[in-house]
Amino acid sequence: MLKSLKFVSYIIFLCSIYSISYSQTLGLGRAATNNEVSAWDIDIRPDGKGLPVGSGSVIIGEELYTDNCSSCHGDFGEGIDRWPELAGGFDTLDSEDPVKTVGSYWPYLSTVWDYVHRAMPFGNAQSLNNDEVYAITAYILYLNDLVDEDFELSHVNFEEINLPNEENFYLDNRENLENTTYNNRCMQNCKKVAMITKRAVVLDVTPEEDMTENNNLDKNDNIQIASFDPNLVKEGEKVFKKCKACHRIGLDAKNGTGPHLNNIFGRVAGELRDYKKYSKNIKKLGQEGLIWNNETLISFLANPKKYIKGTKMNFKGIKKSDELDALVEYLAASTKIN
Ligand code: HEC
Ligand code: HEC
Repeated sequence: MLKSLKFVSYIIFLCSIYSISYSQTLGLGRAATNNEVSAWDIDIRPDGKGLPVGSGSVIIGEELYTDNCSSCHGDFGEGIDRWPELAGGFDTLDSEDPVKTVGSYWPYLSTVWDYVHRAMPFGNAQSLNNDEVYAITAYILYLNDLVDEDFELSHVNFEEINLPNEENFYLDNRENLENTTYNNRCMQNCKKVAMITKRAVVLDVTPEEDMTENNNLDKNDNIQIASFDPNLVKEGEKVFKKCKACHRIGLDAKNGTGPHLNNIFGRVAGELRDYKKYSKNIKKLGQEGLIWNNETLISFLANPKKYIKGTKMNFKGIKKSDELDALVEYLAASTKIN
């Protein structure tokens, strides 16, 4: 009897130690500081919650917009090439080719303020101060004929502005309706395997303009908008035939004689856990920080055995630099997709 009591109290003792240590800390990380929290906490709600104090007029907004936004979104928000349109498109939502803009589609002005503040100008996000964001938001309203040119937007009158499409956004109540198809998914005649049939790179949907001319991307020349030369990619795909005996790329790629090469750009050398045949040296170099990028791939593929002593990649290398360039372009383009 005494013995079993002792045992029970021992178990209770163990449990309490466990729960104290578990609830207090897992021994990982630290609490975020107030500054860190507020740096992340920048969302603006439809009811205006989160908006900072500030204001900006259509007139000031026009100037800021011209300098920072029109190179992509057009002088009147009409969109250049395939960059998004920000104005117009009213009465197109039920057509075959709906034009969804801030004016025609977006439900809340708070989303405009939040989005521009958070993400624009593209390539130089969060470079605008609060008053500038108010002014540009006012100007986008003006471009959509929703306010007059002498309008000034501020945290005070923000809530008074309603966008035309607001009422078409409502809570999904289909679950409560009779005869509803809600959650009644068709699970018949499904395709067996999902395949990528076209690639954005090849379809060329990203405008390829030289954008360094009249916007602020030139201040940040380390920012590259990835675009691949489709011809070079095709050439590279041909060169890749030399690798296919040992390497695969693609959704269903598995390791073979060599590791699969999905996402090879940015991968640490020798890091694939499910590939068990790496040489010691490639793993060591990976641990020391060797990452596959343009330069390292070109040096390695030009002469594998010289670049990594003792590598198990039994391949003499590619001598022609145009073949190397094309191959690496192909690897990079595939990396972006897979
Ligand atoms: C370098 C080109 C570029 C510049 C300059 C630029 N944008 Fe954009 N903008 C984009 C791209 C690309 C998207 C789409 C991003 C996405 O969908 O992830 C976008 C999306 C937007 C959207 C959302 C459009 C929608 O309907 O989804 C708004 C609003 C917007 N930009 C406002 C601005 C404002 C305001 C400025 C200037 C302060 C600006 N942009 C500058 C490229 C640009
Ligand atoms: C005869 C088989 C063979 C051929 C051909 C071959 N490789 Fe390899 N490759 C390997 C092996 C094996 C490894 C692992 C090397 C090691 O462990 O040292 C490897 C490693 C690599 C790595 C490093 C991967 C990682 O996870 O770090 C890259 C990148 C690579 N190969 C690219 C290529 C390319 C591109 C070609 C064609 C030009 C090619 N290889 C041709 C067998 C081959």
